[in-house]
Amino acid sequence: TSRKVAVLVGSLRKDSINRKMAKALVAMAPPSLQMAIVEIGQLPLYNQDDDANPPQASRDFKQQIQSSDAVLFITPEYNRSVPGVLKNAIDIASRPYGQSAWDGKPAGVISVSPGAIGGFGANHHLRQSLVFLNMPVLQQPEAYVGGAGDLFDDQGKIKNDSTRQFMEKFLAAYEGWVGKNAK
Ligand code: FNR
Repeated sequence: TSRKVAVLVGSLRKDSINRKMAKALVAMAPPSLQMAIVEIGQLPLYNQDDDANPPQASRDFKQQIQSSDAVLFITPEYNRSVPGVLKNAIDIASRPYGQSAWDGKPAGVISVSPGAIGGFGANHHLRQSLVFLNMPVLQQPEAYVGGAGDLFDDQGKIKNDSTRQFMEKFLAAYEGWVGKNAK
């Protein structure tokens, strides 16, 4: 069986290293994972007043999450936490209360930063929300990809052999996790 994986990128920047990582992983994915980036930059800011009648872009996004078997978050760290644009997307698909699109979906978290600690703060703040959203999150291997400013070549390939091998290991573990936990 092949599982549909929604890949969420926590940066809207055109040359985002997190988007480069997402694209590299989509290209590296085993056949059992149909990975595709689900865009979040078009989403309006979440407003609880709209719960009964959400904006169309928010409905469409929530539907895309609902129709996915699993989620993979690839995010930068902003001020030691999750970028607002990603938190907004998470909030949108979590509501109205009791009708969360995230519930029970297996997840993985990768943080990518030019900095030395690889977005550890964002990675773990994100995990805090995923606990509440009842998403089983892959624990090992953890993926804090630091020093990533020069990680990709002009074709978007991971230049560094050890990082590429690590990401292959991560994907293999994630594939097993999704296979075990997807509904
Ligand atoms: C950053 N950056 C950053 N890096 C980090 O390792 N820890 C941090 O807390 C922050 N904080 C932060 C806040 C804001 C508002 C910005 C714009 C940037 C730097 C960040 O890692 C860098 O810009 C990455 O290149 C962002 O990821 P993308 O856009 O390349 O995917």
